[in-house]
Amino acid sequence: MPLNTTSPVNFKSWKTLEKLSQANFDLKSLFESNTNRFEEFSIHDNEFLVDFSKNLVDKEVFNQLMKLAEESDLKSAIQKYFNGDKINQTEGRAVLHTGLRSAKNNSAQVDGVDVYEDVQSVLAKIKNFANQVNSGNRKSYTGKTFTDVVNIGIGGSDLGPQMIVDALAYYKTDITPHFVSNVDGDHVMETIKHLNPETTLFVIVSKSFSTQETLTNANTIRDWFLKTANPDDVKHNFVAVSTNISAVEDFGIVKENIFPMYDWVGGRFSLWSAAGLSIAVSLGSEHFQALLDGAEEMDVHFKNATFDQNIPVVLALIGIWYNNFLGAESEAIIPYTQYLQKLASYLQQASMESNGKSVDRAGDKVNYQTGTIVWGEPGTNSQHAFFQMIHQGTKLIPCDFIGFKAPLYGNKNHHDILMANYFAQTEALMQGKTKDEVHKELEEQGLSTEEIQKLLPFKVFEGNKPTTSILIDQLNPKSLGKLVAMYEHKIFVQGVVWNIFSYDQWGVELGKQLAKNTLKDIQFSKIENQHDSSTNELLKHYKS
Ligand code: F6P
Repeated sequence: MPLNTTSPVNFKSWKTLEKLSQANFDLKSLFESNTNRFEEFSIHDNEFLVDFSKNLVDKEVFNQLMKLAEESDLKSAIQKYFNGDKINQTEGRAVLHTGLRSAKNNSAQVDGVDVYEDVQSVLAKIKNFANQVNSGNRKSYTGKTFTDVVNIGIGGSDLGPQMIVDALAYYKTDITPHFVSNVDGDHVMETIKHLNPETTLFVIVSKSFSTQETLTNANTIRDWFLKTANPDDVKHNFVAVSTNISAVEDFGIVKENIFPMYDWVGGRFSLWSAAGLSIAVSLGSEHFQALLDGAEEMDVHFKNATFDQNIPVVLALIGIWYNNFLGAESEAIIPYTQYLQKLASYLQQASMESNGKSVDRAGDKVNYQTGTIVWGEPGTNSQHAFFQMIHQGTKLIPCDFIGFKAPLYGNKNHHDILMANYFAQTEALMQGKTKDEVHKELEEQGLSTEEIQKLLPFKVFEGNKPTTSILIDQLNPKSLGKLVAMYEHKIFVQGVVWNIFSYDQWGVELGKQLAKNTLKDIQFSKIENQHDSSTNELLKHYKS
C-alpha cells in the first residue's frame, strides 16, 4: 500500500502550529513556569536518555506536533515501512533495511515472499567470512594471513561502513580497515601505497556495480594488484558486494566471493547488509551482530512507543518545528567523542539525499520547506571552530549534543573535562549572559565604567539557543547501532510528514549521467560550443 499524498499544510495542526510560531519561546521562562519540564520533555529508554527540554517548544506546541504526526497517518506509514510495502514508489521498491537486523522472523515480505530466511543466510555468510579472515583460516593468494581490508565503494557503500569502523576503532580486530571512495586517483594511491598486496583483502561494494567512481577505483587497484599477482589470484584477495551479480562476475570475481545486496535496501541505509562486510571483518562478527542488535532495539522502540514517548518521532517533529515554523535552515550534530567524527558526514547523506526533495508524493512542487542541512563536528574541537556563530550569530541552529557517561579507556579526568564542556555548552546556549551579568563580570575585572560601556554589547549572549542532549551509557557496537537507527527513523518520520519520497535520489543520478558525457568530451572531442560558454572555456583551459 502506498503512503498517502496529503500535503501537510492542509492539516489543522499545521495551521495551528503556524499561529503558535508567532509567539516568543523563552527557554528560561519555560523552565521557571514548569518545574517538571525535564521530566515532561525527556525520554529514558534503557541506556539512552534523550533530553529535549532545552528546545523552543511548550506543551501546546508539543501536543500540536503530536497531532501533526497523527494527521500525517504516521502510524500506518510505520507499519508499511516495517512490513515491506513498496513505499519507495518512484523506484517501485520496498524500504526494508529494518529487516536486516531483525533477529526473529517479523514476517516482513517483499512481493509476497518472507525476507527473513534469505537475510539470515547472507548474514551467516558475512559472519563466516569475517571469522575465516580473522582466524587466519582464509589466506591470501600467497598463503599469508590478511592484515588489511580495503573497502572500495562510494556514498552509502562507503560512508556507513567507514563511519562505523571509525566510531568503533576501540573494538577493532587485527585487520586494519581502509576506504577508497573518491575517483581521485591520488586518493587511491595514498591509500594503497603502503599496503602489501599479499596481505590485503579488497571488498568492492556497489549495489548497482555500475558506479563510475567505484569501478574506476576497483580497476586501478586490480591493475596494481596484478603487478605482483596473476589474474587467477584475484579470487583470493577480491570479494564483492552487489545486487548486480553478472557484472561482478564479468569483473572476474568468482560466485562464492559475491555477497548479495537487495534492491529493497537503499544504499545509504545498507551498512546493516553485506555492504557492512568490512565492518564485520575489521570489528569481528560478534560486534557486527551487536550493532544489528542495537539497531533492532531502536526499531522495536520506534514501532511500539506512543508518539509522545517515541525518540525518533519526537526528534523528527521538533526538527520540523524549527524547519517549517521557526525558519531554521540547518541542524548541527555535535558528538562529544572523537570516535564519532564521521557521524555528521554519514548523516548528511542519510538525511540530505533522502529528504532533499522539492516535489511531493502527488508529484506537485511543495510550497513549504523540506530537508534541512545537516552538519557538525565533535566537541570540544567544534567549540573552537564554529560555536561562535551558534552562540552569537544571527542564525537559528538547533544542535544535537551526543555524549557518553563512560569513556572507553577509563580516563576519568579527561572524560569529566570533556563532559563538563558538553553540559556547560547546552546550559550556556540556553542561559546566555545578560547585560547585568556582563557588567558585573567586567566590574570585577577592574574595568572603568567607560571601558565597560564600550565592551558590553559584544560580550552579551542572548541565549535561548535550542539543544537536544542525547546521553548514552557508553559507546559500543550496540549503542551505536541504536543511535544510527534513531536517526534513520527520524529521517523516515520527517519524509512522511513532508509528503515526499525519501528513498529515491534522482538528483544524484543526474550527476552520474552528466559526468559521463563530459568525460567523452574531455577524452575524445575538440571543445567547440557543446557546453555553455563558461564550461567551454574551462574545458579548453583544462585541456591546454
Ligand atoms: O549517491 C548516489 C548513490 O546512488 C547512493 O545512493 C549510493 O549509496 C551510491 O550512489 C553508490 O551506489 P552503488 O552502491 O550502486 O555503487
